[in-house]
Formats: sequence, structure tokens, C-alpha cells
Amino acid sequence: MTNKIFMCPPDYFYSINYEINPWMTKGTQCNNEAAIKTWDNLKNQITELGAEVLTMQAQPDLPDIVFTANAALIHKNTAVVSRFRYAERQPEEKFYAEWLKAQGFKLEILPEDMFFEGAGDALFSGDTLYAGYVPRTDISSHTYLSSLLGIKTISMELVNKSYYHLDTCFCPLSDGYLMYYPDAFDEYANQIIEKNFPEEKRIPVTAEEAAKFSCNAVNVGRNVIMNVTTARLKNALDEKGFKSFEFDFTEFMKAGGSAKCLTLKLC
Ligand code: ARG
Repeated sequence: MTNKIFMCPPDYFYSINYEINPWMTKGTQCNNEAAIKTWDNLKNQITELGAEVLTMQAQPDLPDIVFTANAALIHKNTAVVSRFRYAERQPEEKFYAEWLKAQGFKLEILPEDMFFEGAGDALFSGDTLYAGYVPRTDISSHTYLSSLLGIKTISMELVNKSYYHLDTCFCPLSDGYLMYYPDAFDEYANQIIEKNFPEEKRIPVTAEEAAKFSCNAVNVGRNVIMNVTTARLKNALDEKGFKSFEFDFTEFMKAGGSAKCLTLKLC
């Protein structure tokens, strides 16, 4: 089956206008041309690797709408639409919902007071959903999702402010592999990770690599698309049979995102 991936172009991605994560500094200018180029490179690379990219129109005054990972959690034909913690991103919810509905997804709307930021904080490895909480997503949403979708959900607290979404520090790869940054998690979450992913399947990254958003990578088959990283990590991936493709995601990192945040796997 061809993977389908949802993206939204950075047409209105010009500057950082608010601060909702430690990477954002209000007033920072973003090079729109460079952002568009990176986004095109990502889209073309995904397509070349055999997946299909579907896009939505961007919206003026909603620069973060490019980060489609936060649109929803997709499970089979259901889309659980995100409920953003910060007011700045809440207007995106309806655009994502409309688009996903038009694609034929059955929408699930979360209770009003329950924050949940979609595939930014909830990632499948096999049939198990790994879900992050505290900075953006409420832990109460994890049990809610578990019974709603009939799935096993494992909650992991995000303890490092820089890695505020699970997909900034935890990247399940094909065939049960995992690339992750251990220091973004407490000891308990690290134990869970070690229990669920055998050592030969784990690819830990260093602080330097984590700060290059290396865990925020797009996985298509045995390929990984990511921000420019270290030779060490590329070798580590290569040893496990993963080929890496690097692009410069500097402009998006000013908003606290990189390759994976710009995508949402639909199937
Ligand atoms: N500025 C965006 C925010 O803070 C970045 C989102 C990155 N998305 C992600 N899935 N990690 O919400």
C-alpha cells in the first residue's frame, strides 16, 4: 500500500509572532523563500521514496499550520482532531478538521477541556500508541483515546522543555526500530522504552543530535528524511539498515519544528 502523507505549504511562514515553545523568539524573521525550498525538497523526497503527498491550502496569519503533524491522530479511518493548548494555534483546528473530513475521515472531537496535539504527541509503533504529555497534551486524553480507538496506549512524560512534543525526541521507525533522545524522558519512561524496544532496535541520539531535531525525522520504509545531522548518527542508522536523506530545516527550527512536524501520515 502506498503511504499517504498530508502537508501544508509554508506560504505565510514569514516570521515568529508568538512564543509557545523554547525555540521561538518573537520578532525573528524567517526566510520564506528558503522555507519554501526546504518544504519542496521534503515533499519531492517523500514522493521519490514512493509515498503520496496530499496538500491543504495555507492560511494567512496562521504560520504554524505548516506543522500538519499536529492536525490530528489518524487511526484507520478515524481522525481525532487536535485541541491545541495555546490560543495562537486553536484557529487551525477547523481548517484541519474540514480538510480531513473532505478526505473521507470520520472525525472525532475531543471534550472541550482536554488538550491533545495529534501526531505531534502520539506515535504508533506497531499497534501500540506512545503518547507524550505535560507541555502540550493532557494525560487524560491518553486514556480517552485508548478507549475511543480500542488501542493500547503508553504514556510518557516529557521532562525536557526543549522537547515539548513527543515527535521532537521519539521517532518510531519501520520494523520496530526506534530513534530517540533518552534525556528528554524521566527514568520511568526510559524503563518503558527499554522494556518495549530491545536494545538492538534502539538508536539513541546525543544532545547535539537532538538539538538538530534529528528525532523529528520522516520515515518511509527503510529511509529517513531529516535535518542535517552528524556523521555518527547517519552511520548508526546505516548500521541498522536505514538510509538517511538530509535537508536544511533551519527556517522551521525557528518555530520549533523540523521534517516530521511538517507531515502527517494518513495511511
Ligand atoms: N511552533 C509550533 C508549536 O509550537 C511548532 C510545532 C511543531 N510540531 C511538532 N509536531 N513537533 O506548536
